Amino acid sequence: MSDAIYPVPQEWSANAKIDGARYEALYAEAANDPDSFWRREARRLDWIKPFTKVKNTSFNEADFGIKWFEDGELNVAANCIDRHLAERADEVAIIWEPDSPGAERRITYRELHEEVSRLANALKANGVGKGDRVTIYLPMIPHAAFAMLACARIGAIHSVVFGGFSPDSLGGRIEDCDSKLVITADEGLRGGKRVPLKANVDEALKNCGSVSKVLVVRHTGGTIAMQDGRDIWYDEAIAAASPDCPAEPMNAEDPLFILYTSGSTGKPKGVLHTSGGYLVWASMTHEYVFDYRPGDIFWCAADVGWVTGHTYVVYGALANGATTVMFEGVPNHPDFSRFWQIVDKYQVNIFYGAPTALRALMREGDEWVKKTSRKSLRLLGSVGEPINPEAWEWYYHVVGEERCPIVDTWWQTETGGTMMTPLPGATPLKPGSAAIPMFGVKPQIVDADGKVLDGATDGNLCITDSWPGQMRTVWGDHERFFQTYFTTYPGKYFTGDGCRRDADGYYWITGRVDDVINVSGHRMGTAEIESALVAHAKVAEAAVVGMPHPLKGQGIYAYVTLNAHEEPTEELRRELIQWVRHEIGPIATPDVIQFAPALPKTRSGKIMRRILRKIAEDDIGNLGDISTLADPSVVDHLLEHRQLVA
Ligand code: WT7
Repeated sequence: MSDAIYPVPQEWSANAKIDGARYEALYAEAANDPDSFWRREARRLDWIKPFTKVKNTSFNEADFGIKWFEDGELNVAANCIDRHLAERADEVAIIWEPDSPGAERRITYRELHEEVSRLANALKANGVGKGDRVTIYLPMIPHAAFAMLACARIGAIHSVVFGGFSPDSLGGRIEDCDSKLVITADEGLRGGKRVPLKANVDEALKNCGSVSKVLVVRHTGGTIAMQDGRDIWYDEAIAAASPDCPAEPMNAEDPLFILYTSGSTGKPKGVLHTSGGYLVWASMTHEYVFDYRPGDIFWCAADVGWVTGHTYVVYGALANGATTVMFEGVPNHPDFSRFWQIVDKYQVNIFYGAPTALRALMREGDEWVKKTSRKSLRLLGSVGEPINPEAWEWYYHVVGEERCPIVDTWWQTETGGTMMTPLPGATPLKPGSAAIPMFGVKPQIVDADGKVLDGATDGNLCITDSWPGQMRTVWGDHERFFQTYFTTYPGKYFTGDGCRRDADGYYWITGRVDDVINVSGHRMGTAEIESALVAHAKVAEAAVVGMPHPLKGQGIYAYVTLNAHEEPTEELRRELIQWVRHEIGPIATPDVIQFAPALPKTRSGKIMRRILRKIAEDDIGNLGDISTLADPSVVDHLLEHRQLVA
């Protein structure tokens, strides 16, 4: 926590799109007269058929449903490409910076139009039509954006799977939504290391029957196997396709994409976003939150495998006709100046990144930053996890040289785009606070029993009314959608986050209050890691909790009970860590494995996670009531053998 407060600089409020007074007026309008507010905002898009209805939403069980602009028709790809052609066909849409400094690529809107149209035709030629699912498993190369937009152009639903996920995780996601086609590359590159994407797809497809074609981008040129009749080289498919592909008229509520994300229980959920509301939200937040002006070079450093990449690398930025930077690599390759060198190289005006990267760079010292100019930067953004005040101050003073406001944007895969943030021309900044709600967002803080807490307070964060960018369902399981988000506090969307509101009405996200952990800004369900662990032949039972981690924000702490007669050796510990990496992917690598002869359970057999969390957090002074445990002595063993990480 920090008491610092940075006022809005004069030149910012004077030139702001949204200053303090305008924020108040627009917020009130969106809250009290959503029809008028959203009718106007939705005009930022081109509609093939104008909508007459704006908002038709309810979070109540009796008439539950979420629809925005429901009788309108549009095409998302046409909004991101075609409508810019008249004015900015030769302006750069995408700047691609490769993993290692070298041959970058600049793609104009005209070229983007051709690439996407050809690919859209190639998809059609391979049997993909409106409503079909396409899985995209690509590195951060322009083809990822081409693929997403090509799907949108023909009304296919894309499901992007982050290239760091294992074959098993990929296969599960392909199977869940019955993808017809997969788009991948021979290999990815991250920090000079090769990622065997095509080999992972081959492995994943051994167990999924739905996929009939795989398009393969030649990226590294590495050797891969091509399966006859199934695998097609992307470049050949494109060369054979026509560059003329009319954009499919889509209803505003037709699905645009599925993106899998982890929850407290079960397998990852396919979060479904639709076309009209999502794009209005993406475009509006991209403009207001980042104070985007035509001609700005915008760089969101997130991977398109996450929602941040969907909304701000691709859809929001391109809907606004921006030049968006796509970076294939990592912040520390070839050295720790990489981010800021890219900023200088392309004269980036707006940079949007994750606290975990900032913490890692901060540790390496200021010199890496200071040897770059960064004079082009006007605004900085943070996303994905709470930013600690130390990292915030470093970002503000060292990276931004006290010139650039920081927008700390709180949102979720489910929300489609930013929900709470300071607005740079309107909001004094408090380091670590996501500040105030976006237009149309009605936050509410409640206690565990659902009692609404007013004023300065602390509790669980709900949103009481719908906004256009809200997810519409869980793919294939509408009931799970309702159960997960709208039953904890009936009539409200429950975010899963804890939150404090201070006396100035600023919101401070305190982290997840459910069994979700946030590792380096990546969301992991503890249940998923547990099921990976128990899938190992020697493991009887596992419980996973988060623990504080200086770089990752949270680390993964796993308690593992072995089968009878298995020995808890160092070798087995290493084996289990590798096992989880292999089952889920490197992002799920446990930081700690503590072997426990037994887990603390209530008499009814429920694991008491509260105790496990406290031990992992090294907060053992106050373990709370352990008298309800079936065997309280279990705790002594856990305490004695807890693993402390520096
Ligand atoms: C969870 C959502 C935001 C899109 C990328 C992550 C945490 C996100 C912030 C922030 C504090 C944040 C929350 C949220 N989170 N942004 N600015 N301050 N916490 O999307 O993978 O769906 O994760 O990330 O806990 O619930 P996601």
